[in-house]
Amino acid sequence: MAEDLIKKIVSLAKRRGYVFPGSEIYGGLANTWDYGPLGVELKNNIKKHWWNTFVTSREDMVGLDCAILMHPKVWEASGHLKSFIDPLVDCKNCGRRFRGDDLVEKKLKTSAAGMSMEEISKIIKEKEIACPHCGTKDFTDARQFNLMFKTFQGTIEDSASTVYMRPETAQGIFVNFKNILNTTRKKLPFGIAQIGKSFRNEITPGNFIFRTREFEQMEIEYFIKPGEEKKHFDEWKKLCWDWLVSLGLNEKKMQFREHGKGELSHYSNMTVDVEYEFPFGWGELLGLASRTDYDLKQHTEFSNDELNYYDEETKAHIFPYVVEPSFGVDRTFLTLLVDAYTEEKLEKETRIVMKLDPALAPVKIAVFPLKRNEERLVKTAREITHTLQEHYAVQYDDTGSIGKLYRRQDEVGTPYCITVDFQTIEEDKAVTIRDRDTMKQDRIPIEKLLEWFAEKFK
Ligand code: GAP
Repeated sequence: MAEDLIKKIVSLAKRRGYVFPGSEIYGGLANTWDYGPLGVELKNNIKKHWWNTFVTSREDMVGLDCAILMHPKVWEASGHLKSFIDPLVDCKNCGRRFRGDDLVEKKLKTSAAGMSMEEISKIIKEKEIACPHCGTKDFTDARQFNLMFKTFQGTIEDSASTVYMRPETAQGIFVNFKNILNTTRKKLPFGIAQIGKSFRNEITPGNFIFRTREFEQMEIEYFIKPGEEKKHFDEWKKLCWDWLVSLGLNEKKMQFREHGKGELSHYSNMTVDVEYEFPFGWGELLGLASRTDYDLKQHTEFSNDELNYYDEETKAHIFPYVVEPSFGVDRTFLTLLVDAYTEEKLEKETRIVMKLDPALAPVKIAVFPLKRNEERLVKTAREITHTLQEHYAVQYDDTGSIGKLYRRQDEVGTPYCITVDFQTIEEDKAVTIRDRDTMKQDRIPIEKLLEWFAEKFK
């Protein structure tokens, strides 16, 4: 059933132009996905909403947009070169690769966080864990696999020209800490936000866009006075949760999960995830970490630049502590699709509806003429489309019967559909507006449309 639901969502996403398989005409490139016309709108709506909530509407936040390629020393300083690793095992029979910790977790039904490579190898052998692909019980020992993508900058491919695709946007924020302080004169506490692509050579990507090798993050590094981390951590915990709820997500399918000691990232002394109950089980939607002063101190040591802050109260230079809420754009997107997907049994058919929050829906209003060959209907429907387009994302459609057009817009998640009929042009200069969720129809004069929608979308 669960797999079925993801399959249905993948199929709808392709059918309606939300998400296409990457490089499809060449047989696809595994686990890459392209966002289509509706997908890019939904993604933009998510990012806009996030930026408005956490940056534009707050005095203590500023934004940043850094280069993806950074000096290789950044990753030495941040600890990613040494510690951003997963335990990799190969099946000796079929050659498939797996995360050793995943195999152990599935077998023991408990977390393998913090286990050493030796412990993982030992458990795989002792418990006779079988290859999920071919069933053979013969794996290589677990070895460290760094998740960063490597590439070369310039024309010479040698270790001196090696650069890495950033695995998190956060480091761009840390290395610009001084620039931001000098240009904005912000006082603690304040935050720096960034939205952008990150890359991880995941061993086991999958579950549609849940885990991919190229994805987008929305991250905040919130700089605070040392000793105040618990207070700010709790505040951000609530803000993160509230933001997800403001997307219209079902709170009953959300939960906090604290990281155990062995599971913490190398930079964190406290982390909590917000998880969502996906069809394939509970999965991380965002992570909130207390990063202490680890990153600013590391970059100070490795760059010989002083990434500290002059505290006017104590008249001393300090390294601020950091609370980091880190959201995934693609995971938020997937969660919205899963949460919104609804099948309703009607008398003669099953209606598939994407019950997206109207504020996020990629198309807000669809306009149809009752008959596409009737010039007067088409003209009025197009005029209405153009008027509304100045304010909303509107789609004109005359490529099917009204019933078919409704079904299409239900799958798109369009909250309102307008039909222009003969009564409109011959009698009352009013149109029918059909509500996506209730399917109730209202007759509204054309001249009152802007007012009517202003009320609905306020
Ligand atoms: N700077 C902290 C950091 O990157 P993370 O928990 O590794 O923390 C934060 O990642 C968020 O980024 C995750 O909660 C998830 O939403 C998203 N994310 C991480 N890896 C991802 C992947 N392979 N595919 C899609 N999204 C991913």
